[in-house]
Amino acid sequence: MNNNKYYIETYGCQMNVYDSELVASQLQKTGYTKTNDIETANLIFLNTCAIREKAQETVHNRLNSLEYLKKRNPNLLIGVLGCMAQNLKDDLLLNKPYVDIILGPDSYRRIPEIIQNRIGPLDNVVDTKLSKYEIYDDLFPSRNEGVNAWISIMRGCDKFCTFCIVPFTRGRERSRPVNSIVNEVKDAVKNGFVEITLLGQNVNSYTTPEGDFSDLLEEVAKVKGVKRIRYTSPHPRDFDDKLLDIMAKYDNICNYIHLPLQAGSNSVLKRMNRTYNREEFIDLVNKIRTVLPNCSISTDIIVGFPGESKEDFLETLEMMKINKFNFAYMFKYSSRPGTKAAEYDSQIDEDVKQKRLEELIKLQSEITLFQNKNKIGSIEYIMIEKESKKSSDFWSGRTDGNTWTIIEKNDEKIKDVIPVLITDARGVTLFGKSLTNKESIYEAN
Ligand code: 5AD
Ligand code: SF4
Repeated sequence: MNNNKYYIETYGCQMNVYDSELVASQLQKTGYTKTNDIETANLIFLNTCAIREKAQETVHNRLNSLEYLKKRNPNLLIGVLGCMAQNLKDDLLLNKPYVDIILGPDSYRRIPEIIQNRIGPLDNVVDTKLSKYEIYDDLFPSRNEGVNAWISIMRGCDKFCTFCIVPFTRGRERSRPVNSIVNEVKDAVKNGFVEITLLGQNVNSYTTPEGDFSDLLEEVAKVKGVKRIRYTSPHPRDFDDKLLDIMAKYDNICNYIHLPLQAGSNSVLKRMNRTYNREEFIDLVNKIRTVLPNCSISTDIIVGFPGESKEDFLETLEMMKINKFNFAYMFKYSSRPGTKAAEYDSQIDEDVKQKRLEELIKLQSEITLFQNKNKIGSIEYIMIEKESKKSSDFWSGRTDGNTWTIIEKNDEKIKDVIPVLITDARGVTLFGKSLTNKESIYEAN
């Protein structure tokens, strides 16, 4: 098995990044080594996403472009993992016969067995059974080097928002025990990671006999060597005061909350089955900003949900102005077969969706810039993460609130957290001056 090389390409959310790391560790146990050169791999996995049609199209195109590799080397194994495998297995089997392995998000434990038992070309292996229990508790991910380690704390989602395919592709909600997560955090720190991001489709539904999400966050905050903790994503419905208190209590828990709003009108929120209304959402944002005055808040918005009227959309714009999110991820509604909303009447025309999206993005860019300009003159703590793409004389790092910031290099190192005087804001980026040496502090004053 010596010359076996694997290549994994990951699409979609951070949960997939984590899952790919789990899969990588499984492959390494089986004697495979990683390659970044797809041409030399004899095992190619695409870890896929089904959240919007576009994500699926990208993977379809990529798979088409891989067929020639299979023709060249019939012993090459090609696998489709993740949400699209779950969702589209029949389509893949029919239209992409060169795909050997199709595994849903709860079937990765089988990888060593599938590969080891193979003699010569493989008949298709398809396993997309979802499990009520699989949390991969005893498997440890193989991470690339870096600053941030993603750690999955729960899998699945029980919320069934009417637009969303996730409850179907990832199955029921299950939480990992506190101890096992804390051990993985300690392990990550030992391996040089200084930032931890706790992941789940709905982190604040996390529940175990040892505690809830706030208890878990507190345990992680206490681990020595963890400089920063982030988490994504909480559901507005499940956000409680205890979580804000824990965030306020620990300096290493970042002042940043990604709080998906999805839509601004109560009638759309209702049809989305989001289980909160705009008034409750505004109250929550205000409460967050009272308890954590410097907290950045970002959100997700979908435009063009079935039946979204002009007035509904105007209410979304209004909600952006009221809540002044630091930034937002904005999407056109994409109908997902099998979900409730796909059956709703009055689907919105593509060009209307496009216009609404553009209008929303324009407004939010102004709000993001406004929020960033407000930071000019203040001191933010930046973790140095990498060299700036534009120039090797500059570092790139994030504020506590998750805004990318460019600073001129002094003698800092990657992973240092340093005070920075914010001097400018352009687009979604901040610019600043390091205050780590006396000279610059003097100049700044
Ligand atoms: N169409 C468009 N956006 C979607 N999202 C989830 N499902 C859909 C869909 N069918 C968005 C939501 C979610 C984010 C991860 O993706 O805003 O919060
Ligand atoms: Fe999808 Fe809603 Fe679950 Fe998020 S909370 S994964 S949007 S069903």
